[in-house]
Amino acid sequence: MEISLAGKVALVTGAGPNIGSGIALALARYGAKVACNDIDPQAAQAAVKRIERNGGTAMAVPGDVTDEEQVLAYLRTVTDTWGRLDIVVNNAAILGGRGVLDESTEFFEKAVRVAALGNFLNTKHAARYMAAHGIKGSIVAISSSNGWSGSAGVIAYAFHKGGVNNFVRAAAMDLAPYGIRVNSFTPTAPTPDNPELIAQRGPGGVLDRPRAAGIGGEGGDEPWRRPARWTGPRPPMVPMGTTGTPTDIGHCVAWMCSDYARLITGCDFVVDGGARAKNFAYVPAAPADLAGPLPLIPLDVTGELDRDTVHPGD
Ligand SMILES: NC(=O)c1ccc[n+]([C@@H]2O[C@H](COP(=O)([O-])OP(=O)(O)OC[C@H]3O[C@@H](n4cnc5c(N)ncnc54)[C@H](O)[C@@H]3O)[C@@H](O)[C@H]2O)c1
Repeated sequence: MEISLAGKVALVTGAGPNIGSGIALALARYGAKVACNDIDPQAAQAAVKRIERNGGTAMAVPGDVTDEEQVLAYLRTVTDTWGRLDIVVNNAAILGGRGVLDESTEFFEKAVRVAALGNFLNTKHAARYMAAHGIKGSIVAISSSNGWSGSAGVIAYAFHKGGVNNFVRAAAMDLAPYGIRVNSFTPTAPTPDNPELIAQRGPGGVLDRPRAAGIGGEGGDEPWRRPARWTGPRPPMVPMGTTGTPTDIGHCVAWMCSDYARLITGCDFVVDGGARAKNFAYVPAAPADLAGPLPLIPLDVTGELDRDTVHPGD
């Protein structure tokens, strides 16, 4: 049995070169036609090019996920061009930020706005289209480990990702009567694997370069900041040694959007090598002692498709 999204049409918001592009590529490799949105038209176009050079079908639908007119316009472009819409991945977000002692009102408001309106408007208008056309679609919100547990230095992000998690459960209830499913996927600092991004930033990801700021996040020199002024090494505590790549996320999200997941709604999925399941007292084995995971099944074959290797959906 093969998982296939053939005949389905997908929209991925915020399809920048890291996770959004990885999910968009996966949906295309599993057979969907994929519309790539981003507020940065070049990022949307780059995601399209990546899909096309891997043999998939895609189009760029740039626009701001917080602007209702723009959302309606790019959704209309997708449905007018391809005649339907089955999958929406609400991936656009503003990352980073500061801790509660230092965050600005402007940044907090902007980050919350993108998460809140991005998820709300794209879910609302896509679901109205699906319901009106009898499409039993799948909507996936991209959350974060910061939405489930506390991390210092990201107060706006923690706030809006926590909100996304319960938005998903409530929207799942609103849309269950229509056969439309709403779930979240929670990335946990995946290591980028888009060749273009690696060429730009070098290999490795957050896990290889843990943040050097104090445990309260970036701060000043005031004496009262002493408790949070700690800059020692912070090795990641991941039971399997790695939290994977956007390709791992893509395989999971593609399955979540497939017909095999027809009754899965209001759930969260995570691919993190056991990071979230870990008890506070569990200390992972030393990296050199770990057996490591199975090899990754690649999705970006960049160039000629190699028919001798496994290509899901082929
Ligand atoms: N990178 C990580 O380690 C990590 C970890 C956990 C969760 N996530 C989540 O995964 C998703 C993607 O993360 P990423 O690392 O690829 O981030 P990224 O910053 O590379 O991509 C986010 C994209 O969203 C776009 N965007 C921002 N505001 C927008 C708007 N108003 N309208 C349309 N597009 C907009 C940006 O231009 C960008 O291309 C986000 O939801 C993020 O919170 C990332």
